Amino acid sequence: MEGDLSVTALYTSQVWSWGGLACAELFATTEAKRVYDVTNAALAAASMFKRGGSPLRYALLHRHTMIDHLLRASGVRRVVELAAGLSRRGAAVSADAGVDYTEIDLPRVIARKRELLERTTEGRAVLARPGLHLIDGDLETVALEPFVAAGEPVFVIAEGLLMYLAAEARRSLFAKVRALAERAGELRFVFDLVPQSEEPAPGAVGRALEAAMKRFTGGRTFERDARTREAVLGELRGAGFSDCEAIGAGSVARAWQLPHPDQQTNTVVFTSRAGSRSTRS
Ligand SMILES: C[S@@+](CC[C@H](N)C(=O)[O-])C[C@H]1O[C@@H](n2cnc3c(N)ncnc32)[C@H](O)[C@@H]1O
Repeated sequence: MEGDLSVTALYTSQVWSWGGLACAELFATTEAKRVYDVTNAALAAASMFKRGGSPLRYALLHRHTMIDHLLRASGVRRVVELAAGLSRRGAAVSADAGVDYTEIDLPRVIARKRELLERTTEGRAVLARPGLHLIDGDLETVALEPFVAAGEPVFVIAEGLLMYLAAEARRSLFAKVRALAERAGELRFVFDLVPQSEEPAPGAVGRALEAAMKRFTGGRTFERDARTREAVLGELRGAGFSDCEAIGAGSVARAWQLPHPDQQTNTVVFTSRAGSRSTRS
């Protein structure tokens, strides 16, 4: 994947701090705060000309806490998080010594994540956990099988990634994840993606977000060829997943006790299963 998407991990890491999520402070930096402030200022300026719609940070907080909820509810103890960036989830979840948690991202992001953890006693203790693995690799080429154990259910997360993948890359990721079910026996796959039909009509806010993205990523911005929830669900089924579901934040905000449940975000999280025991429990 060309372009620098790793800077987007700075913005999200600051959202996890702003949201008060456990372990987010381990990854807080002035650099992330600057990216966050500049982006929010651009979005707020653009929003002056528009009504309604929640600020981006609420949508991101909803997606992150929805995925936390799904992982917790699954009871699965082996996790592989793709494009983990500076997410605090691995640090928080691997506090349970019975969990095996693998995070994968590009080499410079993983190196930065290690550096940030090295800064504090608590961070160094997180790094020393036998159950936490920080792996550098490009998702297009890295083999995922080594992070899955034979006959052990696995929960695969891809947060904040799918919106940057065009159809072909999306389908090849789906196939790559699906193939892991052969070894694991049972696999859950969860990711977020707002279908194009649910995006607000291109306007000042959308243009401001694109401009901020381009500025920080050297020209890289969002792909918009996932048109509807049904289209994405169809791609998942076509790749061999079952029990595929698209969950809008608004439909679960209260039941799942998401933070800021009154914020109407357009977050959509997709869940699916694969493997020999892939029927709904
Ligand atoms: C928007 S950030 C999301 C980070 C994290 N999942 C979160 O939600 O806080 C996107 C992440 O995708 C990673 N990424 C992009 N392309 C990648 C690739 N080909 N292989 C591995 N990671 C990649 C970036 O480095 C970045 O950390």
